[in-house]
Amino acid sequence: MRITIPELQRKARSGDKITMITAYDYAMARIADKSGVEAILVGDSLANTVLGYESTVPVTMDEMLHHTRPVVRGTQNVLVVADMPFMSYQVSPETAHHNAGRFLQEGGAQAVKLEGGALLAKTVWKIVQNGIPVMGHIGLTPQSINTLGGYRVQGKSPQKAAELLQDAIELERAGAFAIVLECIPAPLARLITEKVNIPTIGIGAGPDCDGQVQVIHDLLGFFEGFSPKHAKKYATVSETILAALKQYVSDVSEGLFPSSENSFDMDEGLLDALYGARVEKP
Ligand code: KIV
Repeated sequence: MRITIPELQRKARSGDKITMITAYDYAMARIADKSGVEAILVGDSLANTVLGYESTVPVTMDEMLHHTRPVVRGTQNVLVVADMPFMSYQVSPETAHHNAGRFLQEGGAQAVKLEGGALLAKTVWKIVQNGIPVMGHIGLTPQSINTLGGYRVQGKSPQKAAELLQDAIELERAGAFAIVLECIPAPLARLITEKVNIPTIGIGAGPDCDGQVQVIHDLLGFFEGFSPKHAKKYATVSETILAALKQYVSDVSEGLFPSSENSFDMDEGLLDALYGARVEKP
């Protein structure tokens, strides 16, 4: 049985931490679903991790839907949250509502996430009023990279910190069921967590949020060398995959693979007949 949003909120209220991870395909989603995480985010970070774009800006609704479906098919326990891509919700509350609905109807997700605070309160309200749960996302909002000018910690000045607090309050008022706080100072994240009644899910926002979210490729070490400060590498999958592929190349060139164990046999008599048969070349 999938965890529900009220269950997730009860968990946070009782002081238990929520864990969310990104996933973008069936195989990874199946594994994550067994791990004990409560939620999977089909993040638009797939732009960087899966599609090789420099930012999340180019990702489209079709690409997000394409990746949401296999994640839903691969899971039965977690809440699946689909990330609304750039320009799918900024134009008007009506288009936002229409696109959010596609994630539930065509993608099979249980909720959507969008980036932005007070300015998007009307949009969040419209979507939520129509039965679509919305997760907010404030602080470092990667879709605004061209305005922000870099992936930096947000909310460091008193004014920016106050704005972020207000953003969180307005998102809660608009009906968001949870808020991602990305790359903001830990004390500010603690304050926001105290001031709102919905769960805060941090990424680079310190230990006092109600939960944490991470990009699975960062956590598993898919990219050699690069690791964001807010992530911890729990594995170095890139090394494991590279070593395995090198072994495969070596086994094939030395004739060690495939062995008889990996091959299929056939009836000897049939084979003899075939060897004896005259085969006309075309
Ligand atoms: O797209 C994503 O992976 C995200 C997380 C970083 C919160 O939005």
